Amino acid sequence: MYLLRSPIVPMDIRDRERSAMEESVPAAGSRMREEIDEQPQVVAAIASELPRVEEAVDRAREAGARFVIYAARGTSDNAAVYGKYLANILAGVPAGLAAPSVTTLYGAEISFHNCLVFGVSQSGKTPDVTEYVGDARRRGAFTIAITNEEESPLAEAAEVVLPTRAGIEEAVPATKTYTSQLAVLALFWSIWSERPDAIETFSSELPAAMEAVLGGEDAVARLASRYRFVERLMVAARGFNYATALEAALKLKETCYLGVNAYSAADLLHGPIAAVEEDLPALAFAYPGPAYQPMLDLVRELRDRDVEVAVVGPGQALEVAGAGIEVPDVVPEVLSPLLTILPAQLLAYYLAREKGIDPDHPRGLSKVTLTR
Ligand code: F6R
Repeated sequence: MYLLRSPIVPMDIRDRERSAMEESVPAAGSRMREEIDEQPQVVAAIASELPRVEEAVDRAREAGARFVIYAARGTSDNAAVYGKYLANILAGVPAGLAAPSVTTLYGAEISFHNCLVFGVSQSGKTPDVTEYVGDARRRGAFTIAITNEEESPLAEAAEVVLPTRAGIEEAVPATKTYTSQLAVLALFWSIWSERPDAIETFSSELPAAMEAVLGGEDAVARLASRYRFVERLMVAARGFNYATALEAALKLKETCYLGVNAYSAADLLHGPIAAVEEDLPALAFAYPGPAYQPMLDLVRELRDRDVEVAVVGPGQALEVAGAGIEVPDVVPEVLSPLLTILPAQLLAYYLAREKGIDPDHPRGLSKVTLTR
């Protein structure tokens, strides 16, 4: 990690707080931490799902799918944002995110002909996602469930199931199921758009690159230590990694109780940047590709406004920010969200520990949330 300019809190307060927290945080291991570490193996295993995903692509094409809608909540919805960029950029297919309430609360009668509707859900039990997919199927959509539970209401509601095979996820904050959803989506759209290069990188280089990023956890722990008194944070990214910004913000909110807003770098410039202040640090995701230069420009702009910025990205981006967590430029940008989210998950874990929160069981949350 590069050195930050000045401490956010004075040393004496920091040391006093640290000893108080060490007393209150149980030293026991954490499922969230273990599940973070399982991700390279989980993603490697998804490469073996190739024949099943190929069949799903064939069936969706045969069904005449020309538009894509993703129905999902929470972390799964952030994976769907990645899916939207994949469909648009790799396949030239229009794609958007569902508002399930139009079906479940308003009873809208949508014509879904020529639509491919994905339900994305770790548990397969989120009621409004399941109802939306079932309704879309009855109204003409071709439906695919991406889920970690092959025997679930969502799997039953959809024509095709693409399992994420992440194993049971016990910690409330989703980690390995998120990257497994990204992996299935990347595979699906790489096959649809006939990109053997992406599929090859996926199986050969990605798991090792994920291991390498997880190996940099000391730098993340130091950043967490620096942020332990931070109550608000701004997160920004653009392009494929906009999904990373949204998911990083969700992890930091639910696991560390921070007030975090995630922005597309472009949206940030359209107004919210007026709210930046010295005590509102920023976390920016920058990875080489078409969105890289705009992200570096944003980092410079924030620094000019005296905002402390930490970047998740390659060394050059860290130099521009003056601080951050290195994610080397080793896979094509399209697959980079599977790398860039890892430091953010680790940051949520370490910051929770710094704040005396049990990362596996954030207050008032359960693994399945029943929204209608
Ligand atoms: C976040 C988290 C929740 C779930 C959301 C959807 O870490 O776990 O936001 O992602 O409740 O759950 P599923 O994917 O089971 O539909």
